[in-house]
Amino acid sequence: MANADVVLEIRGLTKRYGRATAVSGLDLAVRAGDVYGFLGPNGAGKTTTIRCALGLVRPSEGSVRILGHDVATQFRDAIAHVGALVERPAFYPYLTGRANLRLFARLAHLGDDAVDAALDGVRLAAAAAEDRRYGTYSQGMRQQLGIALALLGTPRLVVLDEPMNGLDPEAVRAVRTLVRRLAAEHGTTFLVSSHLLHEVETTCNRVAILNAGKLVIDGNVDELLQPAIVDVRVRVTPLDAAIECLRAGGFDGATRVEDGVVHVRARAEDLASLNERLVRSGFRVSELAPLRPTLEDFFLERTRADGKPDASSSRR
Ligand SMILES: Nc1ncnc2c1ncn2[C@@H]1O[C@H](COP(=O)(O)OP(=O)(O)OP(=O)(O)O)[C@@H](O)[C@H]1O
Ligand SMILES: [Mg+2]
Repeated sequence: MANADVVLEIRGLTKRYGRATAVSGLDLAVRAGDVYGFLGPNGAGKTTTIRCALGLVRPSEGSVRILGHDVATQFRDAIAHVGALVERPAFYPYLTGRANLRLFARLAHLGDDAVDAALDGVRLAAAAAEDRRYGTYSQGMRQQLGIALALLGTPRLVVLDEPMNGLDPEAVRAVRTLVRRLAAEHGTTFLVSSHLLHEVETTCNRVAILNAGKLVIDGNVDELLQPAIVDVRVRVTPLDAAIECLRAGGFDGATRVEDGVVHVRARAEDLASLNERLVRSGFRVSELAPLRPTLEDFFLERTRADGKPDASSSRR
């Protein structure tokens, strides 16, 4: 029996198109309240996974359960509490955004207030939603309306395939705020694929990275970015003597990087003793900053074909 806490459970998912394998043996569990980021380079298999999860295409192998219901055999129950934006939704071009959403709302036995809430949430300008036909919408407005549709009626699981595509910074912020609010206030669970790594880092609590159809790693964002060995930036005087002192203390990699600053590689648990050693020996330490890798560093490291670290690292 599936764990009650798991909202979306993907097991052994494989999807082949002819001879090509788009997704291979994927296991994934999205738990209640997760804002789960789904990452991977172009062609990694994210959209294919999402399509399989929503029953839009049939997996070659494996199974998907949503809220305990098997998508293949109990489709209606599985999909009943799911909102999704995957492909372009089929909106009528000659109706306004609001009229389009009202049509969908009626099909789902929802009132017009649900439509208002959804439009309001994505900040799709009221005037645009009222007066303009969908056919005249800009790309970003279409995307916003698609997100509003996915959120209509506050579903328990919302699956968004690259929701930020084509959105301007203000719209991106509105969507990010909305996702966080729905997760916090309603316990809505999200699976969001994205190429905006900074966005994922700030919005998601868990991530999975897919590469060439296979899961590279998944886990808690904070934990993934909390490596056991860290690069530490230390501003200390006098510098050369301090470097000698660090090397003598077993911090072999201590190297001067700029005036007054040394970089050291150290285990996270050794940072306190590193500091203590310097201070006890009479050095003046004015800065000691572990350089936390960004999700972008992490992503590039894990998905590069050659596996070599990237020289243009964005560590901060
Ligand atoms: N209908 C299809 N027929 C044949 N091959 C397909 C089909 N859909 C996807 N693929 C292939 O499966 C692989 C994974 O594609 P998918 O769209 O899932 O990747 P993605 O991670 O969503 O990429 P992107 O970031 O570019 O959106 C690609 O090699 C793609 O060409
Ligand atoms: Mg895709």
